[in-house]
Amino acid sequence: MKIAAVIVAAGRGERAGGGVPKQYRDLAGKRVLARCVHRLQQCGVFMRIIVVVNPLDRDHIDAVEGELGFRLDTIPGGATRTASVRAGLEAASETGAEAVFIHDAARPFVSPALIDRLVDALEHHLAVIPALPVSDALLRVGDGGAMGEPVSRDGLQAAQTPQAFHLASLLDAYAQLGGTALPDDAAVVRAAGGEVALVAGEAENFKLTTPEDFIRAERMLMSEAITVTGQGFDVHRLETAEVMWLCGIEIRAGLGLVGHSDADAGLHALTDAILGAAGAGDIGQHFPPSDPQWKGARSDAFLLHAIKRLHEAGGALVHADITLIAERPKIGPHRDAMRARVSALLGLPEKRVNIAATTTEKLGFTGRGEGLAAQAIITARLTP
Ligand code: CTP
Ligand code: MG
Repeated sequence: MKIAAVIVAAGRGERAGGGVPKQYRDLAGKRVLARCVHRLQQCGVFMRIIVVVNPLDRDHIDAVEGELGFRLDTIPGGATRTASVRAGLEAASETGAEAVFIHDAARPFVSPALIDRLVDALEHHLAVIPALPVSDALLRVGDGGAMGEPVSRDGLQAAQTPQAFHLASLLDAYAQLGGTALPDDAAVVRAAGGEVALVAGEAENFKLTTPEDFIRAERMLMSEAITVTGQGFDVHRLETAEVMWLCGIEIRAGLGLVGHSDADAGLHALTDAILGAAGAGDIGQHFPPSDPQWKGARSDAFLLHAIKRLHEAGGALVHADITLIAERPKIGPHRDAMRARVSALLGLPEKRVNIAATTTEKLGFTGRGEGLAAQAIITARLTP
């Protein structure tokens, strides 16, 4: 069966607060919508993933696309969830899909197992949704905010998304709805007199709705986070020159480093360390010295590329420690400026960046002043 997915992401997330619509908020290093798209994409059952957005959120959408590393298939939504789904269904009907999954952008923890259950059930039903029994006792709120009547939870369940449908039958149900707005798509099918089958939902597939939900989500991700390290090493030849670039700053001490780019050995070692933590090879693979476009390039660009690769791998930097090995120039007078520059480039507070310097007691190439060596070790947190 050809299945399209529609992610509704045009809401304002008012209950969650936080200044940014909740689907664009960062969650342990990756925006909610990026997590959501990634999950759906990973399970490999969707021919297309259509994301319904508010065009006013363009900057946020760009940021999500940056995290994912590809452009999203977006269309503008409407003032209610129902209106946004309608827009998504129109786009889905142009894809040639036979079935459609409608999913809230605010549920980034949907699992491949849940998607499989829905796909299987769709073989026998026109509409299927995940639902979970409610566990708390239920009540109706009465006068003045006090408890009114208790409500039996027997036979009550909570509906989740994704909700799965044969496309033609869902289009038909929406056509019958007229101008009313309903909370979800299963309700639209029921309003049209259709049947909706249930499969087991998942507690982890909760919808980010309130600020507390974000705290719970962060905790969940953090409990699965691992810490990784990366290390890098680099050497450049020293020569008499007006300017040296080292750890992102300009040093005028009558010495320079020789190389194809700006030869900033400190930033090169750091770049390699970050690529290492991302499992992304080394600086030479990403920026071959044989490529003329890197001639004289500032090493900031290499570093920012490595940070992007780390983010794509689900990583966030925690700490960086750079050691510079040279007799000259003396590093001490420049240490604070280097630390400030590196922490700005890495987006880390200065207390999580260290710049150390040492000599090799006049031994070897560094001792003879022929070259400067740099090594870096970084720590990063990888979240799923
Ligand atoms: N949604 C949408 N278009 C709307 C309203 C909601 O696409 N006009 C989407 C939301 O982005 C969300 C999903 O529908 O992914 C579920 O809605 P809800 O959790 O209510 O999100 P918001 O409406 O954004 O939040 P709030 O009600 O707190 O403002
Ligand atoms: Mg809402």
